[in-house]
Amino acid sequence: MLLEIFVFAGITFFVTGAQCEQTEVFAEAGSQAVLPCKCNPLSSSIPYIIWSQVNKGTVWRKEKTGLQYWGARWSPKGVQRVQCPHSKFDRGDFSLQINHVREEDGGVYNCKVEQGNQVTENQIILRVIKVSVSPAVPIWGNDVSISCDVTPWPQGASVEWTLNNSTFTPAGMAPKSDIAKHVVREKASVRLTGKWTCVVSYKGEEGRASAALTVKGIIRPSKDNTKVYAAVGSAVALPCMFSPSLIPSNPVWEKLKPGFLFKPAPGRLPASFSPPSTFSQVAFDKSAGLKEVDIKDEGKYRCSGGVEGQRLSRVMQLVVAKIDSSIPSEKSGSVTLTCQLTDPSEVTDYEWVHVVYDLNGTQSIGSIQKGKTLTISTKSEENRGEWTCRFYGKRGVLGNITHNIQVMSGLSGQKPSGHSHNTPAVIGLSCLLLVLLLVLAQMYKNHQRRKRIFQYPALETIVHTVSNEREERERNQADQKHRKRDLTELN
Ligand SMILES: *[C@@H]1O[C@H](CO)[C@@H](O)[C@H](O)[C@H]1NC(C)=O
Ligand SMILES: *[C@@H]1O[C@H](CO)[C@@H](O)[C@H](O)[C@H]1NC(C)=O
Repeated sequence: MLLEIFVFAGITFFVTGAQCEQTEVFAEAGSQAVLPCKCNPLSSSIPYIIWSQVNKGTVWRKEKTGLQYWGARWSPKGVQRVQCPHSKFDRGDFSLQINHVREEDGGVYNCKVEQGNQVTENQIILRVIKVSVSPAVPIWGNDVSISCDVTPWPQGASVEWTLNNSTFTPAGMAPKSDIAKHVVREKASVRLTGKWTCVVSYKGEEGRASAALTVKGIIRPSKDNTKVYAAVGSAVALPCMFSPSLIPSNPVWEKLKPGFLFKPAPGRLPASFSPPSTFSQVAFDKSAGLKEVDIKDEGKYRCSGGVEGQRLSRVMQLVVAKIDSSIPSEKSGSVTLTCQLTDPSEVTDYEWVHVVYDLNGTQSIGSIQKGKTLTISTKSEENRGEWTCRFYGKRGVLGNITHNIQVMSGLSGQKPSGHSHNTPAVIGLSCLLLVLLLVLAQMYKNHQRRKRIFQYPALETIVHTVSNEREERERNQADQKHRKRDLTELN
């Protein structure tokens, strides 16, 4: 039925002879190519149109009767890859559309239009551009080549590359030949990922084709020396994510000793290091972490794993944040908090955020102050609560660390606690002193007594003699009594 409509349409057209042009056409592989064949509509007779490919036969033709024929290559299994929209015939436009153009479609085409006595031939060169990446998904650090193929290649054409819409200049020497120019050879890295476009300029025409490049390897962190920020005492994750298609063998985590500029030596992992668990994570995720970050844990960490016969590794830097608090002065009643990072090189801004909690425990943000240091009154009830130091980099918040402020009661409560700390010691010391004093006093007393006795040695002998005499007298008296009794017994 469609054919009938075409026939009818063909008959109703009264197109006259034509004057055609020759053209260069660029088309990206896979897209739709339009081969122009425009003639001035001079003739009023029905045109006979034949599109052919030089040395390859007919592509499509249309008889004066309106019947259409397709070359075998162009209509596989009855699905036509080419068409010539009849709706444009009255404007002298006999352009051929090729869908899903392939590299092998490139070449010279002929458009021949016969109208009345006039025969117009037109030559079109179709150049199919294709960008290909080899290997399709390269491994990080391996060679990758991105080629721009144009079939047929236009001798003397200029080729330019853009990567993610900005001009890409290949590293190394300027390419000399056309062949070198249309192939980019690089080491696969994140820098090369994205949309590659090859722009070919030739005889005032411009053709372009694109391809996406992805690299497999350790995708997170995407580059070495990525900084990971953590507050002292918090937990932190050390990311090490391989591409989902990769399952690394023998994954290893190391902490690198500082000071080795060229070849860092592995050191000991922190005590709170938790290795990647084989149960809770997917096989390509080798992320680890620290349960409780200490200021000593700052520095470089390296994760590595074997992939397709080579070892991939990624180094990251743990930056630890802490808050230095000045000793609150009694007089001014203020305290100064300083936000400290072990490596502030990427920090562009600091701000202090007051986090307040209401009676229900709902958190809300209070005042915000700019700057690395914060001086606040500890006497003001309003300053009670958490003060969080947020630090920013070029691309937003890098991390935060929180300090708790105790107001007045909390502060004065600190002093008795300091006292109570010392009390047992003071009591102990006092007791010791007392005992020592007592011992000394006793010793002194003893010493004094001995000294007194030595001062009067005669007195002692006198006392002694007196007591001896008394004893003798008593003995004599007793003897006399005995004797008296003996006498009375004799009587
Ligand atoms: C606490 O919660 C109760 C009930 O949910 C609510 O009525 C009250 O307003 C809340 N108080 C504050 C200070 O948000
Ligand atoms: C601090 O960081 C944590 C974790 O990223 C976040 O949940 C929290 O809201 C941050 N706090 C403030 C006050 O920005």
